[in-house]
Amino acid sequence: MSVLVLGSINMDLVAVAPRFPRPGETLRGHRFFTAPGGKGANQAVAAARLKVPTRMIGRVGKDVFGPALQQALVEAGVDVEGVEIDPEVSSGTALIVVEEGGQNAIVVIPGANGRVGMAELTRLERWLPEARVVLLQLEVPLEVVVEAAARAARAGVPVILNPAPAMALPEEIYQWCAWLTPNEVEAESLVGFSLREAEAIEEAVRILVGKGCPHVVITLGERGCVYGDRKEVRWVPAYRVPVVDTVAAGDAFNGALAAALWEGRSVEEALRWANAAGALSVTRYGAQPSMPHREELLAFLAQNPETYYGPRP
Ligand code: RIB
Repeated sequence: MSVLVLGSINMDLVAVAPRFPRPGETLRGHRFFTAPGGKGANQAVAAARLKVPTRMIGRVGKDVFGPALQQALVEAGVDVEGVEIDPEVSSGTALIVVEEGGQNAIVVIPGANGRVGMAELTRLERWLPEARVVLLQLEVPLEVVVEAAARAARAGVPVILNPAPAMALPEEIYQWCAWLTPNEVEAESLVGFSLREAEAIEEAVRILVGKGCPHVVITLGERGCVYGDRKEVRWVPAYRVPVVDTVAAGDAFNGALAAALWEGRSVEEALRWANAAGALSVTRYGAQPSMPHREELLAFLAQNPETYYGPRP
């Protein structure tokens, strides 16, 4: 039984700079590096590093990045039988600026991810009988994500949908998702109002649960996350860590959430795992390179045993 991830695979081209450049400005940066990324692949690596069997379904291009991206997944322990090399396009790429405070700005060029379609859905169908959790995001065509969620739900496999990057969702998708995990910006675009106030965040959680998704978590970066189901809304504060690069913190969160649910852990425990993985990931540079290993995550949780889980503090 596996965590089955259908999603994007990118090569990240990262500039570290003192701040974001203004329009028309040329700014001198400190450092450049490439690192494997893509929301789908990052989440697959996050789950696999926690030693949960993980399978990736997606596409890379026939270029210099394609084999490197596949290799990175293999080294993390992800099964890549479902990752196709598309000879007609380049691999997905992301141009990223990370500023000194660790915040980031990203331009994504979909490349092969934009051609994920029927072939990937057929592979999903093939592997659904041996999947315990399906993990989806929105960096591949939306109609494929919607169909993947519907097929997984029909097969009785719980779906975690990380609705990133922000976009409008068709109403029917909510009923097919067991978990919805937007960040603040994505949640704002789903409910149509600002989430600056704590009451608004709780209201957004209730609205999204009301649309038919039984578990909703809104991730809030350094403010932690807010979880809701049909009975209650719970706040979970973030761990305090030194932040160098926030790229893929949400992916660490989602991959760890999937891994914890795969292991049958409680909601409270799964959220602690997810929060801890997100916290560890921001302490180092790069998307996939920053995903914590199981031993590290367990040691971190052992060192930080008592975290709040309850009504708005
Ligand atoms: O979530 C972070 C990811 O978003 C990066 O790795 C980049 O590839 C973009 O897809």
